[in-house]
Amino acid sequence: NSYACIFDLDGVIVDTAVYHYKAWKRLANELGFDFSPEQNEALKGISRVRSLELILAWGGVHKTPAEQQELATRKNDWYVAMIREMTPEDLLPGVKHFLEVLKTRGIKIGLGSASKNAGLILERTGVQTLFDAIVDGNTVSASKPDPEVFIKCAEALQASAVNCVVFEDAIAGIAAAKAGDMKVVGIGDPQVLGAADLVIAGLHEMTIEKLFDL
Ligand code: BG6
Ligand code: MG
Repeated sequence: NSYACIFDLDGVIVDTAVYHYKAWKRLANELGFDFSPEQNEALKGISRVRSLELILAWGGVHKTPAEQQELATRKNDWYVAMIREMTPEDLLPGVKHFLEVLKTRGIKIGLGSASKNAGLILERTGVQTLFDAIVDGNTVSASKPDPEVFIKCAEALQASAVNCVVFEDAIAGIAAAKAGDMKVVGIGDPQVLGAADLVIAGLHEMTIEKLFDL
């Protein structure tokens, strides 16, 4: 039975929220309404289809399922064009170092993300091979706050939930980790992520001591 750290991707390993924002805003603008940074915040951890449903509702626009499919694809094409340009420089501060510390200690490393683009991002930023298991939007049916993504990842890592620590920047993700009976470190604002067991500004503030204290 191993110990494991399971990482969310967007907002924890890389800051892709800005690319999501640009792509969703472009789509909203084409549909004739605007999209604010605050609205983008509310989409953290939320799947692509669900995000589109919310945006269309905010804009007061109705689309058929077929049209929604086309819109989601259009947004994703713009998004992929941006993330394809990512490099190892785009890793958030402290990420590479903390992953290497975990490797040295024999602690398993997993990815638990809602994104269907996780593979591409990990590959572009050069950390793919550090992960022992990758569970993403292509393998999961229930979105966060459902714990499915983290439970599947723990299974793949052969770690029981009590031995897993999840790293999350989204409220929905913290709720998902809690629902899976895992410890969770919030990445961001303690005012927003109060439900986490520990909140830090980024992985550059994480240490092995803080991990064992959990
Ligand atoms: C999450 C992001 O990680 O992935 C969400 O926080 C995003 O904003 C979701 O909508 C799905 O991502 P993708 O890459 O499959 O569109
Ligand atoms: Mg996130």
